[in-house]
Amino acid sequence: MKKNKVSKAIFPVAGLGTRFLPATKSIPKEIMSLVDKPLIQYAIDEARAAGIEEFIFVTSRGKGALEDYFDSAPQLEASLRRKGKTELLEVLKKTTMESGEIAYLRQRDALGLGHAVWCARRLIANEPFAVILPDDVIAADKPCLQQMVEAYEETGGNMVAAMEVPFSEASKYGLLDVKEDMGRLMSVKGMVEKPEPSKAPSNLAVIGRYILTPNILKNLNKKMVGTGGEIQLTDAIATEIEVSSNVYGYRFEGQRYDCGSKAGFLKATVAFGLAREDLRDEFAEFLKGIAAARYAAQ
Ligand code: UTP
Repeated sequence: MKKNKVSKAIFPVAGLGTRFLPATKSIPKEIMSLVDKPLIQYAIDEARAAGIEEFIFVTSRGKGALEDYFDSAPQLEASLRRKGKTELLEVLKKTTMESGEIAYLRQRDALGLGHAVWCARRLIANEPFAVILPDDVIAADKPCLQQMVEAYEETGGNMVAAMEVPFSEASKYGLLDVKEDMGRLMSVKGMVEKPEPSKAPSNLAVIGRYILTPNILKNLNKKMVGTGGEIQLTDAIATEIEVSSNVYGYRFEGQRYDCGSKAGFLKATVAFGLAREDLRDEFAEFLKGIAAARYAAQ
């Protein structure tokens, strides 16, 4: 058995997705697709590649489409079978989760990411676990969580995915205060949530992949008491840095797209469209034409 094995992952998907209204009035943001694959499927594929065996979804009202997505679709499958569409049947097979492999919990009120993770505490019990935010789609030769899991087998502790961002964008992220930089891996002495650029301890931003110890849940537990506002996951990790200094940042290899924002989602759509062999030529030709027309008009 591996030294520090991670077999459970939490997918917090209870947010309201207001930046994509009106689309998200009736569709969960996580079902929105890059080309033809929903954001949530990218997250699941990445988790599987990293060896995750238990998938815990923290959902909310209106996210029923997510549960249906992972279920079998008997009518559709029968129709495809009748028509001999075996390739499409294979595509569908990859979306179906085994019974017992996936669990859904409700976050009753959207009290923040930390609160969403805390909602899964009983299913996590006393094991390390991963957290994947499906909004952050990462294109990489080796999937990001797999890179982290491999590093984590050596380090243990807690690990957050880190990426360099321009200082001017510091106020959009949680930023790492680095103790020791060891290349891809770094030990962390602090974390600052959304600082002004002049107060940023570094330009290393935390993005939506984490490997965490059950202690983080205990820290969240304490934060639940007497807190009125949002419960931040970063605060619980920051507490862990103070107490046990076993938090690492991991500079992953790959391109991250912020699909929680409109611009990020559009960029990802273009990148994933161009990466597809069946669409590349037609799509590139179209983009070239549209870009040329835009420059000509300026
Ligand atoms: P976001 O900050 O992107 O919020 O959450 P959101 O509600 O999804 O989207 P906007 O800002 O209104 O457009 C980051 C991640 O944390 C989850 C979200 O579902 C998303 O995956 N989250 C956030 C929860 O599960 N619960 C919360 O209370 C807040």
